Amino acid sequence: MTSPQVSADRLLARLDAFAAIGATPGGGVNRQALTRRDREARAFLTALSKARGFSVFQDDMANLFIRMEGRDPSLPPLLIGSHLDSQPAGGRFDGALGTLTAFEVLESLADAGVVPQRPVEVVVWTNEEGCRFAPGCMGSRAFVEGSIPDGWEALRAVDDGALFDDERLATIAALAPDVGHRALGCPVAAYLELHIEQGPSLEREEIPVGIVTGVQGTRWLEVLFEGQTAHAGTTALQYRRDPLKALTAALAELYATIMPENAEARFTVGRIAVTPGSVNAIPATAGCSIDLRHPQADVLDRLEARIRKRLAEAAEAEVVTVAISKTVDMAPVTFADDVVSALQIAAQKGGFRTRAMISGAFHDALFLAGHAPSAMIFVPCRDGLSHNEAEFVRPEDSIAGARMFLTSVLELLSRL
Ligand code: GLV
Ligand code: MN
Ligand code: MN
Repeated sequence: MTSPQVSADRLLARLDAFAAIGATPGGGVNRQALTRRDREARAFLTALSKARGFSVFQDDMANLFIRMEGRDPSLPPLLIGSHLDSQPAGGRFDGALGTLTAFEVLESLADAGVVPQRPVEVVVWTNEEGCRFAPGCMGSRAFVEGSIPDGWEALRAVDDGALFDDERLATIAALAPDVGHRALGCPVAAYLELHIEQGPSLEREEIPVGIVTGVQGTRWLEVLFEGQTAHAGTTALQYRRDPLKALTAALAELYATIMPENAEARFTVGRIAVTPGSVNAIPATAGCSIDLRHPQADVLDRLEARIRKRLAEAAEAEVVTVAISKTVDMAPVTFADDVVSALQIAAQKGGFRTRAMISGAFHDALFLAGHAPSAMIFVPCRDGLSHNEAEFVRPEDSIAGARMFLTSVLELLSRL
């Protein structure tokens, strides 16, 4: 047995190979959850895994597990991984880097003939992004809860209206002949995930590794104003019940106050829709999504209450109605001290400069933290840009991250 080493060439080649699945003309990927492209990526990783002699399983949420057996197969595994689904105009690294780094670590352990005491498993979580089917992190949440929450079966895809349950079952069926089935929510010794930072701090400070100590909270609201469609040319102001006027008035004030008054708050409207969408008709409905984030749950409560109040006031002023539903409520999470300190020791052993940080993005690790001691490692990305086709991680940063990840896995295995 030799000491395990990450293969830089193999990792970089894999990143290119997966970036080709769902590649967009703009240099990014469109590999949204449970689509044909997502299935293609899963099939590719399964084939690579089988070629290496790893066993592969999937559960009822189509979460995919690649297992390196331990000396004691009865011990709960060390779980490492991320996701392969992307945003509609996403980057090549969001999720894929963490998944392929975890797989590289599994391969480097196998190359070196390491047989750990407990199994090590790479996991690919289903629908981390949440853009095609909301909420995000569906796979990890159902895994932690041990069952698929009621109501998910009837969700419809934002892009093509496909039924969640049809897409979930088709994704499972596509791999079923090649992989075993397992129950949702098996015991886990610890969970570790690598991800691009998706923000600018590491790059600006020229620090190669972030040790993530927690994740801020996220709430998603779906807002729908309903008024009355009517003729654009004949309907005088006093007869209008214009839902878009209500929506835009409310948004203008929310933009002007929420982030300017709360440096740590994040307020984003990423989707807006108007029906019937005719140039010369007052809209019948106007709706939008709201993504709200903050590291503190009580501040999120206050901001959400303010948003709801403002939307209701705007509806009243325009004599329209407003319906608000919450599709995501992820509480802020602090990662386990034991795992974070193992990462700090690993960084010292590997000679990596690090910085402790909170994640502004949500991740599957947020849910896993409720099931097993968990933490994350971040690597820098260019200009802090993510959820963008131009997302880029320098090869040397991917490789440093993978080395840090391998050292961390070895440190965790020695402690668990
Ligand atoms: C994850 O993709 C997020 O939106 O934080
Ligand atoms: Mn991600
Ligand atoms: Mn993402």
